[in-house]
Amino acid sequence: MHLPALSLALLTYASTTLAAPKPAQPYSTWMASSFLSKSQKIDRHYVAAVLHEGLQKAAILHPNSSLLSFVSSAVSSLVASNGTLLGWDPNFYSLDDIRIGNNILYFWDSEGRKEGKYKTAATSLRKQLDRYPRTPMGGFWHRDPQYKNQMWLDGIYMAETFYATYTSFFEPENITAWEDIAHQFDLIEQHCRNKTSGLLVHGYDESKKAVWADPVTGASPHVWDRAVGWYFMALVEVLQVYPEKLAGYSRLKGYLTSLAAGLKRAQDASWGWWLVMDEPYPGMKGNYIESSGTAMFAYGYLKGVRTGLLDEEYRDTAMKAYELMVDRFVKRESNGTLSWEGTVRVGSLDQDGSYEYYIGVPLSENDGKGAGPFMFASTEMEMWQKS
Ligand SMILES: *[C@@H]1O[C@H](CO)[C@@H](O)[C@H](O)[C@H]1NC(C)=O
Ligand SMILES: *[C@@H]1O[C@H](CO)[C@@H](O)[C@H](O)[C@H]1NC(C)=O
Ligand SMILES: *[C@@H]1O[C@H](CO)[C@@H](O)[C@H](O)[C@H]1NC(C)=O
Ligand SMILES: *[C@@H]1O[C@H](CO)[C@@H](O)[C@H](O)[C@H]1NC(C)=O
Ligand SMILES: *[C@@H]1O[C@H](CO)[C@@H](O)[C@H](O)[C@H]1NC(C)=O
Repeated sequence: MHLPALSLALLTYASTTLAAPKPAQPYSTWMASSFLSKSQKIDRHYVAAVLHEGLQKAAILHPNSSLLSFVSSAVSSLVASNGTLLGWDPNFYSLDDIRIGNNILYFWDSEGRKEGKYKTAATSLRKQLDRYPRTPMGGFWHRDPQYKNQMWLDGIYMAETFYATYTSFFEPENITAWEDIAHQFDLIEQHCRNKTSGLLVHGYDESKKAVWADPVTGASPHVWDRAVGWYFMALVEVLQVYPEKLAGYSRLKGYLTSLAAGLKRAQDASWGWWLVMDEPYPGMKGNYIESSGTAMFAYGYLKGVRTGLLDEEYRDTAMKAYELMVDRFVKRESNGTLSWEGTVRVGSLDQDGSYEYYIGVPLSENDGKGAGPFMFASTEMEMWQKS
């Protein structure tokens, strides 16, 4: 869905505001303004949701009401006045479609908790989780019916960050919900974590029927950087709102700290991370340092350190990665705007999950799955530099 009124707003921004580029502005707002000059889709899918959260974080840190109102209007345009999330089918079950709930809740909360249509829309997404299809062990299917009985690391970010934030706002005493959230992480840990490397493979099939599924564990064969990036960010975000007094909190924190250690060991000498991260693939022909995963890890470390979840030692890990991104993945266009490079278009378990599959997927330019997390990481860097 592409909304004509907003495309027009986008064009207006492009022609009026970017004529005189400022070279020395913060990367978060610089990237955000640059994206307004590109034709970006405004829809409820997770890529736009993540990109818009990047714009939103930039607009909040460096107060900019026009940038913020752009993002606020984008979210508002997706929700009808009666609270219907436009174009969303409540009987189509896909975790990717839950992620927009975070954007909706953010504006519901930050704009004074008075926009009733946002609460209604968020509640529809939350209620879908109550009837959502699950694996025999209780994990949400990544998508029905295509990924029946499969859990992917990506889906944990898409659904659990929303589920946890919603619960913290509306049902903070709902222990069943909090335990259910931690249980989704537990299932991933039991099936996907390699305790030696500290890393996790992309997903698992509880029925073990997928062509890529390990016959014993159901696990997929490889560690894909973006999947781990989503998962790392999910742990950091969920721990921001998860009640410390519940047993799930320390389990989640344990998952986060052991992943942080594994990621540090896997960081390349160039300070980025490989697309396919499991041994012996780093450095192998066809593999490369990928920008969306690198941005997500940098952000997860920086926010984890700032909020006291992770040790200070990881700031250095993240700052090195950030330096690499600015050097290699942030492209300065001749008209003074920035572009974002080096993000792999997709990585899906709809194929055979092989090394050859992952490295064969092309890169895309200005991909919100990488540029969004780069803005997340930038706001964290800038917050730290300010303090
Ligand atoms: C606010 O954001 C707009 C749109 O990105 C940009 O053109 C403008 O320069 C920003 N304002 C300030 C004061 O940075
Ligand atoms: C600047 O150049 C980039 C790359 O060619 C383009 O995508 C963008 O729309 C341009 N922005 C403006 C304001 O001309
Ligand atoms: C809510 O509004 C949308 C858009 O105007 C409309 O399509 C939908 O039928 C309405 N739903 C209800 C329950 O009234
Ligand atoms: C608490 O959460 C559970 C699990 O998500 C849900 O089934 C139940 O309806 C919720 N209870 C309340 C009172 O909201
Ligand atoms: C777990 O990681 C170690 C270290 O990279 C590796 O040697 C081992 O083969 C991995 N195990 C599985 C089941 O992939």
